[in-house]
Formats: sequence, C-alpha cells, structure tokens
Amino acid sequence: MHISVIGCGYLGAVHAAGLAAFGHDVVGIDVDADKVARLAAGQAPFFEPGLADLLAAATGSLRFTTDLEAAAGCTVHFVCVGTPQLPGENAADVSHVEAAVEMLVPYLRPGDVVVGKSTVPVGTAEALLAELRGACPGVTLVWNPEFLREGHAVQDTLHPDRLVVGLAEDGDADHARAVLREVYARPIAGGVPVIETDLATAQLVKAAANSFLATKISFINAMAEVCEASGGDVVQLAAAIGHDARIGQQFLRAGLGFGGGCLPKDIRAFMARAGELGADQALAFLREVDAINLRRRVRMVDLARAECHGSIVGRRIAILGAAFKPDSDDVRDSPALSVAAQMSLQGAEVVVTDPQAIDNARRRWPDLKYAFTAEEAATGADLVLLLTEWREYVDLDPHELGALVQRRRVLDGRNALDPARWRAAGWTYRALGRPLTEARSS
Ligand code: UGA
Repeated sequence: MHISVIGCGYLGAVHAAGLAAFGHDVVGIDVDADKVARLAAGQAPFFEPGLADLLAAATGSLRFTTDLEAAAGCTVHFVCVGTPQLPGENAADVSHVEAAVEMLVPYLRPGDVVVGKSTVPVGTAEALLAELRGACPGVTLVWNPEFLREGHAVQDTLHPDRLVVGLAEDGDADHARAVLREVYARPIAGGVPVIETDLATAQLVKAAANSFLATKISFINAMAEVCEASGGDVVQLAAAIGHDARIGQQFLRAGLGFGGGCLPKDIRAFMARAGELGADQALAFLREVDAINLRRRVRMVDLARAECHGSIVGRRIAILGAAFKPDSDDVRDSPALSVAAQMSLQGAEVVVTDPQAIDNARRRWPDLKYAFTAEEAATGADLVLLLTEWREYVDLDPHELGALVQRRRVLDGRNALDPARWRAAGWTYRALGRPLTEARSS
C-alpha cells in the first residue's frame, strides 16, 4: 500500500519506519526540514533504541519530505502530529491535527482513508470527519490510537499488544475496516488482537489507558508518602501487592513519578474534556493523581535539603539523569530536570548528567551546569541524586564513585539502586518511601 505519515516526531517517525517494515511504501512528511533531512539520511533525529536499524532496513520503501504534495497518490494517510498542553490551560492543543487534515484535503481522492493516531480529546475525530465529508466526499476517517512507549517504540510498533480501530458508523466503515486490516496484515497474522470500536470509544481508550497508568504510579507514590510517615517500605509493599495477579508488578515503581510528553498532559486534557462534557466529577480523582505526582518532586528537594542539614545553598549536587525516563532523550516535563532546576534556583550548585539528553536539557534549562559522565558530575559532590534510572547509573560501582565525591551521600529518586551495596561502600543511602535505616530497607 502507498501510505503517508504526517508528523515525524517520536510517534510518526517510528510509525513510518514500522509501516515500511510491514511491507508498505511509505512517505513521512514533516514541516521540520532538519528532522526530515536526518531521517532521509537514515539517521534517527532523536534517541530511540533500534530506530536507526529500522530506518536502514526500510531503504527503498521509506522516504521523508517536507512537501505535503507527496501525500498525493497515497491511499492511507496517518496523522501523527503532536497535541501539547495549551499554555496556562489543562486542555490539549489540537490545532496541529486540524491543520494536518485541512492541508491534506487537496491531495485526497475518493476511497482514501485518513487515520488519526495523535492523542486527542474525545469528539475531535467526529469534527474532523464532518469536515472531511464536506470537503472531499468518499474519503473516510478512522481513529487508531498509538500505545508505544518511548525507549521501546520499535518493539511496541512492530509487535503491538493490541490494535484499536475506531470506525465511523456509516457505509464507509466496511471499506475503512478492510483498509486497516490490510495496513496491519503482518501483525494481525502474528496474532495481535484487533478491537473495533466507534470513533468516540477509540479516542477514549487512549485517554483511559494513560490515565490508568498515571493513577497506578500515583497510587504507589501515595503509598510511599504513607510509608514515609509510618516507617514502612514502599518497595517491599509494591512487591507484595504486585504478587496479586489482579494488581500485577508493572507500573508500581515508586519514586519521582511520571513525566514526559504524554501522561501528564493527557490526564489534564482528559479532565478538561470531561469538564466540557459535564462529566468533570467522574475524573476529579485525576486532579489528585496529578497532585501526588508533582508532590514527589518537592519531596525530593526537601529530602536533599534534610540530607544537607537544612540548607542546599552552595552545595555541589550531582544529578544523574535528565531524560524523563531511561532509554530516551526526551526531557518534556522531566521530573529529574524539574528537581534539578528547583535545587539550582534555591542556591545549590547543580551538575546534571545524562547519557543522551544533555543537548535537549541544555536547550530547556541553559543555566544549569552539565557534565558528560556520572564521574565528572560526581566529582567533589556533597550529594548524589539518581533521578533517571539509566542502566549505566544503576550499575555504577559505589566504591569507585565514592572515591570522587566530597561526601558519600546518595538519594535514590527511582528506587533503582541496591541500598545494601551502597551502604556497604560507606554511603548514606536514602530513597523516597523507604526507611532510613539499613536493617529495614536492605
Ligand atoms: C506512555 C504510555 O506508557 C504509552 O502506552 C503511551 O503510548 C504513551 O505514553 C503515549 O501516550 O504516547 P511513555 O510516556 O513513553 O508512554 O512512558 P512510560 O513508560 O509510560 O513512563 C511514563 C513515566 O512514568 C516516566 O516518567 C516513568 O519514569 C514513570 N514511571 C513509570 C514511574 O514513575 N513508575 C513506574 O512504575 C513506571
């Protein structure tokens, strides 16, 4: 099939390469000429494990351009542009989605299918479909939300755990269903379940999934707060409740909480949309989910201050991690950078390091100091904070790092280090939601 993918960010670039891997002829279109040039040269414009290999494997069936006219001749058009939070509001900005569909119109022909992948407030797809029906009869729209995780985007794209296809309730549904089944013929043949819904449900599935994940993280972080107040150990608690198959172990890692370009803004946009629909009470709990999450960042700074005997002014603080999660260079709403910035504003001499995200972090927070290695960041440090659990930080040798620091004090913001190992190397180890003493937390 000839397929266009509009928007080549963290979602679209991987999706375009994945579609090429499924055997289609794909053109990725983006307004960012620099990004397009890098993709066209087979380079991933952001850090995503496996993406460069996927791009290399697709040579010949995958191209990238800034020219929307390249969509002409394609029969399926994926819309993968961003829907960021509106400044000063909870709601999402859907203007890029609206603009993408509007700009596609001159190149659409009867029988074409426009496929929405961006995360949008429920009702957006219906409005776009109405517009498309007026502007280009015979063209239909389906909603096919994306569930890929940054850092695992290639695996999630090639081997999704489900495909959700939201169809408009009219005569075009059969055609759209057949087209989507052909697009995803390869994963479907591999046994991936397809869930067909109406348009509203498909849009809601995405908002609901991310809200559930955010709630799960904030739940365990709320338990961490109670553990801190009572002397309990949230890591042991999470492991114990996670053995119940109905609860499960995943997404119960307590710590600094969730960030990134999706979970925080998606729960806020969901609340905003529910409010517009008169269902705000139903999602009032998400306000608390958001509040618990943001409190963890403040708590981390408080813990650092307590470790420094009441003041971080002038203290050299090494921060390991700037990306919002490991295996990504994405710093959007990064909890690690938020803590780093707060501490810097409060007078600490903060040095941030990250294996991949320093450039992005520097663009966002140019006034912070950056180091290229954990060792460089830790040299002379009064306190070390692990805020993004990159494998190489988890594997650090506490003896070797201990030789570089001013004081052997580490705060584990992700409950990722082995307390016994660090304490055995002479470090004071503290973590969110865990007791202070060795005997009980190791
Ligand atoms: C999230 C969803 O997991 C994807 O399914 C979805 O497709 C994507 O948003 C999206 O909407 O596009 P992502 O933002 O890449 O994916 O990252 P996650 O793996 O969900 O992690 C989000 C945040 O939660 C990270 O900051 C992570 O450190 C934090 N987290 C995760 C925890 O604090 N504890 C956990 O146990 C798990």
